[in-house]
Amino acid sequence: MPQHIAIIMDGNGRWAKRRFMPRVAGHKRGVDMVKEIIRACDARKIGFLTLFAFSSENWRRPKDEVSLLMELFCFVLEHEIDQLHTRNVRLRVVGDIGAFDEKLRLLIARAENLTRHNSGMTVSIAVNYGGRWDILQAMTRFMREHPERAGSEIGEADLAPYLSLHYAPEPDLFIRTGGEQRISNFMLWQLAYTELYFTGTLWPDFDAGALDEAIDSFRQRERRFGRTSEQISGGKS
Ligand code: FPP
Repeated sequence: MPQHIAIIMDGNGRWAKRRFMPRVAGHKRGVDMVKEIIRACDARKIGFLTLFAFSSENWRRPKDEVSLLMELFCFVLEHEIDQLHTRNVRLRVVGDIGAFDEKLRLLIARAENLTRHNSGMTVSIAVNYGGRWDILQAMTRFMREHPERAGSEIGEADLAPYLSLHYAPEPDLFIRTGGEQRISNFMLWQLAYTELYFTGTLWPDFDAGALDEAIDSFRQRERRFGRTSEQISGGKS
């Protein structure tokens, strides 16, 4: 079983358009699927789930859609957090949240604080997040805290604790719904050895059965991490 699944939830707009509904109806249905997939991962004992909810580039969308998405985030944080807490889920939000208004920032802080000691699965929501931003903010904080290292060689292990998902293992499985086959600046550092799974299914249709198909595909793959097939099957190092 994968221990960490990362998902780009794409296709809400097209799902709504096909039904002659406003795009926000697709995002609302998207929230229902977020809940279903959290439950499904929990039931399958997947310890970490990371969801890309809003990229640094999404600010370029029409103003109305951006504000409706913000309202939706606020609503979810206000109304769903108690249920997640009851189910022992730890919620983390990663990304440059300084750009959000105060209400949203307070709701994020409240949700993270409430669930911080939970021992069940960890759900990370990436908002105003970009993989390059993450590497740069990690580098900036590292340099600020270790001025004595300026000019010396920096290793992966030096930077790792400063990345925004430092608390999670690297994802085993990356899923993108909605038909595009791109990583779109999501978790660039952490996806180095991750198995990639692309599906044409739109996010509002991505249910527990679709998740199982993705997991089945993952389980049929051989993860070699640079080794040969013979080394893996023979158990030699
Ligand atoms: C991509 O579909 C989806 C988004 C940019 C927003 C994702 C948000 C949600 C699923 C709801 C909120 C989630 C949480 C965790 C509170 P798109 O609009 O790009 O679809 P399209 O490609 O068909 O236009």
